[in-house]
Amino acid sequence: MSEAALLDAARAFLPRARAPHSRFRVAAALEDEAGTVHPGVNVESATFGLTICAERNALFGALARGATRFRRIAIACDPPSACMPCGACRQVLLEYAPDLEVIVASEKGPPERIPLRDLLPRPFLEF
Ligand code: THU
Repeated sequence: MSEAALLDAARAFLPRARAPHSRFRVAAALEDEAGTVHPGVNVESATFGLTICAERNALFGALARGATRFRRIAIACDPPSACMPCGACRQVLLEYAPDLEVIVASEKGPPERIPLRDLLPRPFLEF
């Protein structure tokens, strides 16, 4: 699947987002090693702090379905922008998918591809 197609898959999940507080919808399409695409959307809580981001939602759902290795994650948002994963999601994604590539929209032209490792230098990984 092309990067543009994976980003389109993420965009297709945007209506599932539950963002009554921020009105900022985020969706992720997480591709595992077999090519299966796992959806994730942000789901907000009235307590705010219990909100889950789209990226971690995708990862946790995929792990629950038995997927173990991942290739790419595409992230889309509404209103549209080149939405990057937050620091918390970078940390958790790196722990379970260290070789992940992050696909985000660019203002013009093809989607941007960024190695997750570049987004979280010198991570905390072990204790
Ligand atoms: N959000 C995500 O889903 N992913 C991120 O990486 C950053 C933020 C969500 C959380 C909240 O529902 C909304 O965007 C505004 O912060």
